[in-house]
Amino acid sequence: MKRAERRPGTSRATQAWFPTLIYSAPLGGAGSLALNGELLREAQQLREFDRSGQRWSLRNYPGGYTSYGSMDRLHQFSSTFDALQRRIDRHVQRYAQDLRWDLRERPLVMSDCWLNIMPRGTSHSFHLHPQSVVSGTYYVKVPRGAPGLKFEDPRLAFMMAAPGRAADAEPEHRSHIEYPVAAGQVILFESWLRHEVAANPVGAERISVSFNYHWA
Ligand code: NI
Repeated sequence: MKRAERRPGTSRATQAWFPTLIYSAPLGGAGSLALNGELLREAQQLREFDRSGQRWSLRNYPGGYTSYGSMDRLHQFSSTFDALQRRIDRHVQRYAQDLRWDLRERPLVMSDCWLNIMPRGTSHSFHLHPQSVVSGTYYVKVPRGAPGLKFEDPRLAFMMAAPGRAADAEPEHRSHIEYPVAAGQVILFESWLRHEVAANPVGAERISVSFNYHWA
């Protein structure tokens, strides 16, 4: 058996296995700035006319707007979101390679795609996406001081009587990690990984597009 790479500060006897992979990269591609501008415009329009989504958000997304409960297939509804999907597909391909997944028989396909607008005070507490394989978010607008995307160690629920971790532990040994986010960035993770967005503390809106992929 080939040994995993030894980490500094870890004894030679101990190896790390079963990694949890989180992917983060700029969307990229020609015209990505123009596409982002178009997404920003459509986001404002969607919120204006999606009455059903406004009602859903009142009950389920206090203070903010999400199309999750009303229009959750935006990639099939708008050519702008379709263009976004085609770009995200390439990142999902790369991520699947990093995960060593065998996709020769069946591809990964975007199944859901929805918009999130978080003004000051809106949050999204810890959850996962149970019906999907890969989930992620593209960031359209992130004002300075707006929260990132926070992930939880997926083994936390199994660590029933384990001691807490040292305050100076390396980030990968902590029970949570917060990814900073910026406009134009894509983050991907396996759908079982719990994540949250803390309440937006700033006056400007944080706007993002979230999505799920199924193994078709
Ligand atoms: Ni989520």
